[in-house]
Amino acid sequence: MEESSANAQHEPRESGITRRIFLGTTLGGGAAILAGGSSVIFSTASNAATNAGADSMFKLGGDLSVNRLGFGAMRITGEGIWGWPPDRDEARKVLRRAVELGVNLIDTADAYGPETSELLIAEALHPYPKGLVIATKGGFTRPGPGQWVANGRPEYLTQCVEKSLKRLRLERIDLYQLHRVDPNVPMEESLGAIKKMQEAGKIRHVGLSELGPEEIARARKVLPIVSVQNQYNVSYRKWDNALAYCEKEGLGFMPWSPVGGGRSLKSGALETAAKNHGASVYQLAIAWLLARSPVMLPIPGTSSVAHLEENVAAGKLQLTPAELEALNGAG
Ligand SMILES: NC(=O)c1ccc[n+]([C@@H]2O[C@H](COP(=O)([O-])OP(=O)(O)OC[C@H]3O[C@@H](n4cnc5c(N)ncnc54)[C@H](OP(=O)(O)O)[C@@H]3O)[C@@H](O)[C@H]2O)c1
Repeated sequence: MEESSANAQHEPRESGITRRIFLGTTLGGGAAILAGGSSVIFSTASNAATNAGADSMFKLGGDLSVNRLGFGAMRITGEGIWGWPPDRDEARKVLRRAVELGVNLIDTADAYGPETSELLIAEALHPYPKGLVIATKGGFTRPGPGQWVANGRPEYLTQCVEKSLKRLRLERIDLYQLHRVDPNVPMEESLGAIKKMQEAGKIRHVGLSELGPEEIARARKVLPIVSVQNQYNVSYRKWDNALAYCEKEGLGFMPWSPVGGGRSLKSGALETAAKNHGASVYQLAIAWLLARSPVMLPIPGTSSVAHLEENVAAGKLQLTPAELEALNGAG
């Protein structure tokens, strides 16, 4: 799944990786997580530089405390990110289980389904538990399965915010992200509409998606920005510059496609590290992201409870300095 250009065609693919090696602690860890709350997932260790879970909390906008390992709710829709998922009950279970496991940052968008991802979140989780941050987005229209067309016109975005509020049954959206800058609309105009909604109390914080440092700085002249959501994973490093900018400025960086977006993450270093830990490459990909930067907020997506549990358990993995170095060089 890519939304890398404003008018991209998309087709999620099956991953070529079929290996299913769970952390030895996955099931026990799940029980411990349930018993001990989110702090158990992100146990600290003496070597903070290599512990994926260290410094596991991040304050979005300085006031919203989130566990750095979040959940992406794009995959709980139908094929081509279109319509309802084949197993709607499983989708609701995935959402509830994520929260049970201590995840308190859920990323979605009006374009996922469209609408169905936001509707399922409300169905499964409303009334929302205290501290749950739902981050949604607007700015993409969906002419059909796998098709995404940017629309950043101010009047359209205003209407998007109102509709997301209704679907999510919220009075205020904690994090509203401009899904794409529309090439036909100056970003200042799009963000101006979002700023008005923020001033009206309908949005708490604002984030961006798929932009580099210069554009992020330009957006910040219009309104405060707390996060940036760009494609990033162990094999895809185009946005290292945006990550560095976010680190310097204290913005959250939410990598999308953190486990490859349904494509195989081909890396010898990843395979080797996975073997060393008796874990899956998905888990290592997540552990590397968490270790890569304290502002990194991965949002791996899945339609399956088993994959969700596997992914959340990755927060406990501790990489050795040698593994970290090998994975840093694997991009
Ligand atoms: N801002 C943007 O433009 C943008 C673009 C794309 C996505 N996003 C956001 O980022 C989130 C993540 O992106 P993504 O879904 O494209 O990429 P991803 O999280 O890297 O990959 C999801 C895919 O990997 C599979 N998967 C996940 N965990 C697995 C595991 N443990 N074992 C085997 N397969 C596993 C899923 O299949 P199963 O369902 O079978 O587990 C799904 O096909 C989305 O949910 C969305 O919130 C944002």
